[in-house]
Amino acid sequence: MSETELKNLQSEILAAIEGASDKAALEALRVEALGKKGKLTEMMKTLGSLAPDERKAMGATLNVVKDALTQALEARGKILAKAALSEKLERERIDITLAARPLTEGRVHPITQTTDEIVTIFASMGFAVAKGPEIESDWYNFTALNLPPDHPARQMQDTFYMPSNGEQKMVLRTHTSPVQIRTMLSQKPPIRVIAPGRTYRCDSDMTHTPMFSQFEGLVIDENTNMSHLKGIFHDFLRAFFGIDDLPVRFRPSYFPFTEPSAEVDIGCSRKDGKLKLGAYGDWLEIGGCGMVHPNVLRNGGIDPDKYQGFAFGTGIERLAMLKYGIPDLRTFFEADMRWLKHYGFVPLDIPNPALAG
Ligand code: DAH
Repeated sequence: MSETELKNLQSEILAAIEGASDKAALEALRVEALGKKGKLTEMMKTLGSLAPDERKAMGATLNVVKDALTQALEARGKILAKAALSEKLERERIDITLAARPLTEGRVHPITQTTDEIVTIFASMGFAVAKGPEIESDWYNFTALNLPPDHPARQMQDTFYMPSNGEQKMVLRTHTSPVQIRTMLSQKPPIRVIAPGRTYRCDSDMTHTPMFSQFEGLVIDENTNMSHLKGIFHDFLRAFFGIDDLPVRFRPSYFPFTEPSAEVDIGCSRKDGKLKLGAYGDWLEIGGCGMVHPNVLRNGGIDPDKYQGFAFGTGIERLAMLKYGIPDLRTFFEADMRWLKHYGFVPLDIPNPALAG
């Protein structure tokens, strides 16, 4: 092949490289020119049959052509790669100005919703949230709350006993009251907390499930008294149910951890077998409360001669059932999607605008 022919071949391949529209076409050109059986490679192979002078001149020219083609292939390759990336970015572009798609499937469980509402109301009254473990020691769950080992009131709560951990008898907490002790031992007065959470009792029928939820309240300061307790419970219940004139009554009762103790009732009507909340003359029990017993304060490391306070405890499912008209306690824990769709809450919905911010 003459030098002119070689130059022509070079221009031809260079033009083809310029015109290659994708990676595959470019690769085909590389193989055609520089591959094992490529045109340039074949020519290199014929060099051996030339006279020494010719071989030298032709060899040099072939190398120049080879370099030119290699460079052109590389340059075109970069351009094509860049174009492919831009095209991919364009194709996968996300319009962030689009409105978010509504969440249509998930629902907030009524217990979660009700707990959030309870916490919101108490937070607006200056309460913080406290937490404690569901597997609790016998000491926190009973003894520290003024129920010594053989106290008959222990039988009031059918307890799930756990295998002992060696040092202590462990139980599934039967109420949220042990969080009172944990809070007193970890904070200095003034104390103002509520503690929502799961509780367990060995009990199962129409109105009892082995697992249920409660929230505990605890306020300790130097002059905190029963009238503060009444005021807070009144305000909470009226805000929660959204009934301004909801009657609230305190009935003397007994709990080992409080003295004096009371049960709290709210006004209702049971006419025609239908329960309705409000000032209708009938009463429905809603929770227990009282002034924290001096023994309990002592067990919490607080001096009962300096400090006093009140505590209260209420079932969360009960409040949810009353507020949202859920008839059967057991359905809360059946994980039935149809039930959850019906009684659950759409995330970000505000079912109770009075509580929003
Ligand atoms: N712990 C009690 C229960 O589960 C409820 C209760 C009553 C809690 C009186 C209190 C209280 O803090 O003062 O039945």
